Amino acid sequence: MLVGSMAIKEKTLHIGGISVKELAKKFQTPLYVYDVKYIKNQINLYQTYFKSSKFETAVAYASKAFLSKDLITLLNDKGMYLDVVSGGELYMAKTYNFDMSNVLFHGNNKSKEELSFALEQQVGLIVVDNLDELKVLNTLSKSNQTPVKTLLRVNPGIEAHTHEYIVTAKHTSKFGVSIYDDLKLQQLIDIYAANELLSLEGFHSHIGSQIFDISSYIKSIKVMKKFLDKMSNKFNISSPILNIGGGFGIYYTNEDDILDIPKTTTTIIKEVENTLDIKKLMIEPGRSIVGNAGMTLYKAGYTKKTFGGKEYVFVDGGMSDNIRPALYNAKYSADIANNMTGKKAKEYTIAGKLCESGDELIKHIKLPQVKDDDLIVVYTTGAYTYSMASNYNLALKPAVVFVEDETAKLSIRRQTYKDLLQYEV
Ligand code: LLP
Repeated sequence: MLVGSMAIKEKTLHIGGISVKELAKKFQTPLYVYDVKYIKNQINLYQTYFKSSKFETAVAYASKAFLSKDLITLLNDKGMYLDVVSGGELYMAKTYNFDMSNVLFHGNNKSKEELSFALEQQVGLIVVDNLDELKVLNTLSKSNQTPVKTLLRVNPGIEAHTHEYIVTAKHTSKFGVSIYDDLKLQQLIDIYAANELLSLEGFHSHIGSQIFDISSYIKSIKVMKKFLDKMSNKFNISSPILNIGGGFGIYYTNEDDILDIPKTTTTIIKEVENTLDIKKLMIEPGRSIVGNAGMTLYKAGYTKKTFGGKEYVFVDGGMSDNIRPALYNAKYSADIANNMTGKKAKEYTIAGKLCESGDELIKHIKLPQVKDDDLIVVYTTGAYTYSMASNYNLALKPAVVFVEDETAKLSIRRQTYKDLLQYEV
């Protein structure tokens, strides 16, 4: 599916006005290509429609989907908030001058060092996951005499996946404190009450990823209403911040819908306006901001028809630059980027070059007959690909290019063999 600035000219895919042939020639393959206009547009949609006259709103980008210097600069310029989940993500955000007061620090097992680093950097909100963590924060805030603003991550007992949500009877997720665990909640509140430096600004819940059904969010808001009422009656916590996490679904193949951001966000806002008394509502999209903006260009290598009849085309990357098909059975779509108009007469499995049978990027896809040095584009690789890439088989991590208005900017350089040796002592 062509989105954003993708277009076909003379049979060839162009992104941001540049031919993929030119990109491959200049930056080699495999190559992650990002359509910057698409990212800006997604940010703009969230910032325009996720607004209320009754409470403040904020959109945080979930760094885990993909993070780089250029993206940090773009997000900061747009006044976005940033969700980080590790000392590493925090360090990168700080190094590239992201406004620390707009950072939320997540994680179920933040170390003392990570928490100290976050306090030193005065990050806006620490999202506390559990009682042990709050005890560490309590001690740190006292010893450093630093005020610490927090949200408490709660588990609403709802899990949403794509088109359905499940209200789990058991509450076994590793994240957060169950909204039904009154004893734990009491213990947490007691710690907050005894330390003036530690403030509970509100609550955070996240119900899953790649969600298309707005009713999952509505259900979670209804559940959170009961919880917030309880917190108000029992502990006198009024008008908190509420962060409902990310999870907005995107298009990978024609099995997926296209989530309408204006419609989804305005529905969520309306529901919250009608039911909750809060100071601020936050969301944390990752995938839906960068996912469809990114694609991976590969060079086609050898083809093989097996004795069993399966027809492969091999590419010069694979599970090291996109682990999602092997890990989650994730589906993708692809084209021959220099032959976008050819008749799709053959069925191939696109496999990588890693030494593992599971290294298949797309099973059974119809493409025109593959020729030597054809460029294969796999779409929708902007989220959870580079950020999950590995050096398995000592494969080199590809470069990342940002394209906009006929300009291609190298954003992250390709690794070299020498890079592979840099940690050896
Ligand atoms: N906020 C929290 C607390 C999260 O745990 C996540 C994702 C997000 C926000 C952003 O969710 P998004 O809008 O990107 O769906 N590696 C998996 C996805 C893991 C998502 C983890 N949490 C994948 O490749 O599908």
